[in-house]
Amino acid sequence: MDLIHERRSVRAYTDQQVDEPLLRELLDAAVHAPTAMHLEPWAFAIVQDKAVLKRYSERAKSILRSPGGAVGWGSSGRAPGDHPAMLDDPAFNIFYDAGTLIVVCRKQGGPFADADCWLAAQNLMLAAAAKGLATCCIGFAVSVLNTAAVKRELGIPAEGAAVAPIVVGYARGASPAAPRKAPEILAWVRQ
Ligand SMILES: Cc1cc2nc3c(=O)[nH]c(=O)nc-3n(C[C@H](O)[C@H](O)[C@H](O)COP(=O)(O)O)c2cc1C
Repeated sequence: MDLIHERRSVRAYTDQQVDEPLLRELLDAAVHAPTAMHLEPWAFAIVQDKAVLKRYSERAKSILRSPGGAVGWGSSGRAPGDHPAMLDDPAFNIFYDAGTLIVVCRKQGGPFADADCWLAAQNLMLAAAAKGLATCCIGFAVSVLNTAAVKRELGIPAEGAAVAPIVVGYARGASPAAPRKAPEILAWVRQ
């Protein structure tokens, strides 16, 4: 319960790289998530090259700024479908200069493959918090990671997809809590 309440999306990272044994522990936590029909549809692509991440970031910004590239984002408060303002900032790196990106990918389709990947992603983020690491899910990265060129580069099968991109690193400074509304209960059917 403490971890659930203390985890934050972190958007500022130190230069300290996460070492391989720790990353492997996170991947092990990820694959212990529930998985529909025990299909374990996930696989992972890991990028620890900041130059590559910068290239993906620039490409993602350009895709998301193109007409229709950010339909439904609307977080800038502008018209729905318009892109968030930060994507216009040349200094903005969608990966926040973190040294590690873990992409939870699905190897195939299927009705619950995406759900399984997101459950794995949550396991990974909570395990990272338990290990003193910081994470942030990067929805901005999904479009670039699913271009044919990047899928090929990362070994993501053509019939699969990048589902949950997560940056991992060591937090630089504290991140304020993002408060939540109380659970909205639509029904509670009792006898
Ligand atoms: C599917 C998904 C996509 C997200 N994409 C981004 C993103 O592209 N950039 C970002 O800074 N945060 C992203 N976030 C993080 C959310 O903004 C964050 O979880 C939310 O504001 C609540 O804050 P908290 O995680 O610290 O509790 C994403 C979260 C989810 C679940």
